[in-house]
Amino acid sequence: MPSAILTRSLTKQYGPLTALTDFHLEVDQGSIFGLLGPNGAGKTTLIRILTTLMRQSSGDAFVEGLDTRTQGREIRRLIGVVPQENSLDRYLTARENLELHARLHGMEARHYRQRIDELLELMGLAGRQKDFPDTFSGGMQRRLVVTRALLHEPRLLFLDEPTTGLDPQSRRAVWDYIRSVAGSMTIFLTTHYLEEAEQLCDRIAIMDHGRLIALGSTQELKERLTGGGNVYQIEFDEGAERYAAVLREMVCVREIEVSGRTVCVALEEWECLSEVIAALNGAPVRRISLRERTLEEVFISLTGAGVRE
Ligand SMILES: Nc1ncnc2c1ncn2[C@@H]1O[C@H](COP(=O)(O)OP(=O)(O)O)[C@@H](O)[C@H]1O
Ligand SMILES: [Mg+2]
Repeated sequence: MPSAILTRSLTKQYGPLTALTDFHLEVDQGSIFGLLGPNGAGKTTLIRILTTLMRQSSGDAFVEGLDTRTQGREIRRLIGVVPQENSLDRYLTARENLELHARLHGMEARHYRQRIDELLELMGLAGRQKDFPDTFSGGMQRRLVVTRALLHEPRLLFLDEPTTGLDPQSRRAVWDYIRSVAGSMTIFLTTHYLEEAEQLCDRIAIMDHGRLIALGSTQELKERLTGGGNVYQIEFDEGAERYAAVLREMVCVREIEVSGRTVCVALEEWECLSEVIAALNGAPVRRISLRERTLEEVFISLTGAGVRE
C-alpha cells in the first residue's frame, strides 16, 4: 500500500522567494494529518503542489503513489479539496453548488441526488439547501465547502485552514463533521491553531519559513521537550526560592523555574520524582501537581517564537 502522501526534497520558488525547501514528508493512508505553521510558512504552497494546482520547482511529490508532475488527472479524481478561501458560487443555491460540482466530476444524477441528500443531512445543512451561500454563517459556508469536497467520495481530503476566521463554537462543529467522515479516508489539513492540530490529528508536522521542523504524534512532539511531556508544579507555603536553590543542585533536575510560591521542575525522567520528594523532606509543600506540556511550548522550543497570527 503506497503512502497517502510522500514528498522528497520538495522545493518551490516564487521568483527569488523560496516558499518550500527540501521538504520530506510521509502521510499514512487513513490518518488525520495536520500541517501546523504560522502565516507565510508555506502550507498553502504545499497543498497547491499536492493537489496539482501548481508545479514544484524541484523534488518529488506523490499522492497514493501517483506523481504530481505527470499523473495530475488521476490524482484529481482521488482527492477532495477545501481551499483556504471558500470559492462558492453565490448565484447558485447550496444544493445547486453541490449539483454543479457533481456534474463537473462526471457523476450521474441518480447517483449524486442521493449522495447530496445524505451529506446535507450529515453536515446539518439539509434545511438550508435552497438558500444562497451569502445568507449562511461562516461556519455553515465552510461546512458546505467540505460537503462539496466529499461528494465524489475522495480517498484523500485536503483542508486548507478549515476553521480560520470561525468563532470557537463553529470551529468545534466543523471539527465534529471532520471527525465523522474520518476513518474511511485520509485527511490532510493545515492550520495555525495549535489546539486544532492537537484535537484532531493523529500526526502533526510543524513547519516554518518553508522548512519542516518536526514530525510526530502530539505525544512524541511533547516528549522531545526537556523533561519529556510533563513538568511538576510544586507550590510552597513559603521559601520557594530557597527550596528551588536546593532542587537546582540535583542531577535529576533538568530545568527549574520559580514564579511566586510555585516552582516548576522538568525532571530527567519520570522516576526522579521520589528523589525530589526526599530532598524536600520537611518543606512546607502545599501541593504537587503534574502539568502537561502544550503544543505551544513545543512550537516555541523549536522555533524560538510563538505562532504568528
Ligand atoms: N503566488 C505567489 N507568488 C509569490 N509569492 C507567493 C505566492 N504564494 C505565496 N507566496 C509567498 O510564499 C510564502 C508561503 O506562502 P503560503 O504557502 O501561502 O503560506 P501559508 O499558507 O503557510 O500561509 C509566503 O512568503 C508568501 O508570501
Ligand atoms: Mg495558507
